[in-house]
Amino acid sequence: MGKRSLKPYNDYCPQTLFLYGTYDEEGNPDFGLFCWFSYIWDGEMGVMCCIGGNKTTLENIRRNKIFSSNIVTEELLSVADYMGCVSGKNPDKMKIDLDIGKGEVLDVPVLNNSPVNFELEVTDFIEKHDGTVMLCKIRNVLQDESLSSDETAEQKLRRIAPVKTTCKHYFSYGGKDLGSWGEPMKKL
Ligand SMILES: Cc1cc2nc3c(=O)[nH]c(=O)nc-3n(C[C@H](O)[C@H](O)[C@H](O)COP(=O)(O)O)c2cc1C
Repeated sequence: MGKRSLKPYNDYCPQTLFLYGTYDEEGNPDFGLFCWFSYIWDGEMGVMCCIGGNKTTLENIRRNKIFSSNIVTEELLSVADYMGCVSGKNPDKMKIDLDIGKGEVLDVPVLNNSPVNFELEVTDFIEKHDGTVMLCKIRNVLQDESLSSDETAEQKLRRIAPVKTTCKHYFSYGGKDLGSWGEPMKKL
């Protein structure tokens, strides 16, 4: 089969979605939706991620050097889509119903309905022209107790139903189209 060359893009490369939780200067929580997130090795597992432009999430992380990363499931999709489409500069962004808790190790807001929450501390900010790459230590992982059950990994993944994204659409773990960016939030 032939190939065609394209400009830089990542269609057909599904990515896991996370909601990053931060506190602003007054201690109010903010959540943003992110998918440029992966893992690094430096004696133990760490995280690397990139934020483009200057977002409230980035301003808060620059100030505090810590944040949470909460995996997005189908149950959380409408909220996640909203957090990805509405800027933290909008003073009404966080006026929605959310079950927000606190990290066990770091002073970060976590989403109680997300089954896996990372508590992250940034060790390196790599500033590019219009984006910031961050390398992070994983200070703690909060995982729902239900994920310690005797079910297989496949059964657990089907139950928690993490959402993936590519081609500006959301997809279920099994590959079902869950709508384009900006659609699920209409259900809120
Ligand atoms: C599906 C999806 C994935 C996103 N992933 C990223 C990402 O990895 N990096 C980034 O800089 N922005 C990403 N965004 C954009 C931010 O979520 C968006 O700018 C949001 O308003 C940030 O929230 P904040 O202003 O409260 O920080 C994504 C948006 C969507 C809809």
